[in-house]
Amino acid sequence: MMTKANLFFCLLILFLFVMKAFSQSTSSSSANSSSESVSHETIQVDLNGEMKEQHVSGPFQFSEHDDAWMRKRLEDRFLKYVQIDTQSDPLSSTVPSTEKQRVLANVLLEELKSMKGLKNIDMDKYGNVYATLPKNLKRDVLSVGFLAHMDTATEISGFNVTPRVHRNYKDGENLMVDNLKIVDYKIDGKELSKMVGHDIVTASGGTLLGADDKAGVSEIMTAIEFLTEHPSIEHGDIQIGFTIDEEIGKGPHYFDIPKFSAAVAFTVDGGEKGTYNVESFSADLVTIVFTGFNIHPGTSFGRMINSMKVAAKFLDRVNQNMPSPDISKDRDGFVHCLDMNGNVEKTTIRCILRSFEDSELKQYAEGISKVIDQLRSEHSNVTIEMNVVQQYRNMKQVLDKYPFMELSIIDVYSALNMKDIVSVPVRGGTDGSQLSWMGLPTANIFAGGHNFHSQSEFVSLHDMADSVKVIISLAQTLSNVPPLPIKGH
Ligand SMILES: *[C@@H]1O[C@H](CO)[C@@H](O)[C@H](O)[C@H]1NC(C)=O
Ligand SMILES: *[C@@H]1O[C@H](CO)[C@@H](O)[C@H](O)[C@H]1NC(C)=O
Ligand SMILES: [Zn+2]
Repeated sequence: MMTKANLFFCLLILFLFVMKAFSQSTSSSSANSSSESVSHETIQVDLNGEMKEQHVSGPFQFSEHDDAWMRKRLEDRFLKYVQIDTQSDPLSSTVPSTEKQRVLANVLLEELKSMKGLKNIDMDKYGNVYATLPKNLKRDVLSVGFLAHMDTATEISGFNVTPRVHRNYKDGENLMVDNLKIVDYKIDGKELSKMVGHDIVTASGGTLLGADDKAGVSEIMTAIEFLTEHPSIEHGDIQIGFTIDEEIGKGPHYFDIPKFSAAVAFTVDGGEKGTYNVESFSADLVTIVFTGFNIHPGTSFGRMINSMKVAAKFLDRVNQNMPSPDISKDRDGFVHCLDMNGNVEKTTIRCILRSFEDSELKQYAEGISKVIDQLRSEHSNVTIEMNVVQQYRNMKQVLDKYPFMELSIIDVYSALNMKDIVSVPVRGGTDGSQLSWMGLPTANIFAGGHNFHSQSEFVSLHDMADSVKVIISLAQTLSNVPPLPIKGH
């Protein structure tokens, strides 16, 4: 039985369907192999005249089979990537800071080349890898980027990583390799308890695992592979970027944003499943130089002016008046004096200022300036100079202009039934904070790893599969967003 309203709706859908088919046939001369993958039947009308909608733009429903496929592909990739040492080096003056990052870059290039339908596959002279999965839609939509970094942290070795898969995790278990406790349930139980039944990967002691960020790299690769094999999932141009030297804070410096060609992007470099980051610190560096007067101590009466004495007073007063990192957490900012170098004649102190609010950052600088004024009046014979340099700014100020980015993250996480969806303000900077201010609005989504920069790093293949689904679903959801300008185009 069909009501009048129902009939009208049915006709409307049929009309849209016919229009869609028409537009496909008239533009078929420009249709190339990549656009053969456009899903032709978004709407079906079954024999009873009832309408059935096949995801026009709604989330793709992943099957158990998809899930298992993703875990298998992730495991193959991730275990391969983590065994390639890509540690970056903060003391190096080359780009990339370590040549060995190119080894993974080349592996990724070859893999990308073996996937169907990718374009613009390239490595730039710095070792960054780029590729495009072209849109499978006729209409113009947003070009979306996904980024992960290839290097690993500098504090713990990334050489000779021997990954181990611990199948079907049981609550309360420690993760052991050859009688060595790699992950301690007593410490990490809160996170491990959410992974009962999961396959968890650890290193074997003495090295990093490298889930930061080879989990992200594996997830993007696997999502792209899945999309090439499921052309019915609609998406706009997807730009893929694998970057160098994130761990030494230089990732974006040599990244070619115009070449990347995304209007907005997501770094897949976050921690626990369900978290995302759209906020980071704003950061300034303050350098204070105290200049006194040196002379042989034996003949210094009434003449020597020891710059260190005044510098010590400075540190003391800054500590009394302003919050330091050891007493700050969550949304607190801080003033952190990093180092003090000097002698009688000249002493230099460097302090970093961090806050989620630019206004608070300004207050910290003013506070320091006040302390200096006071010291100047007490020690008119010591010259004190202060210099403030901007380091980076909270990405939120940029991302607030693109509210659909956070909304789509929340949408997609919810559609994938994630509990504990949390926006975590990053108490530091991310590649995203720099990229956002360089003209590419970039939020950060979870890659699933835990205990970053530690020998106890671990990641669940099940959580990684969820990250793959997030990437696919974000690409799909954002295919409903009209195009936005691309920096440099
Ligand atoms: C389609 O492919 C042909 C041959 O490969 C090429 O010359 C043409 O520019 C392509 N058209 C579009 C719209 O991509
Ligand atoms: C420098 O100034 C301090 C504080 O006013 C004073 O105690 C000291 O004698 C001065 N030293 C010289 C060499 O002028
Ligand atoms: Zn990272």
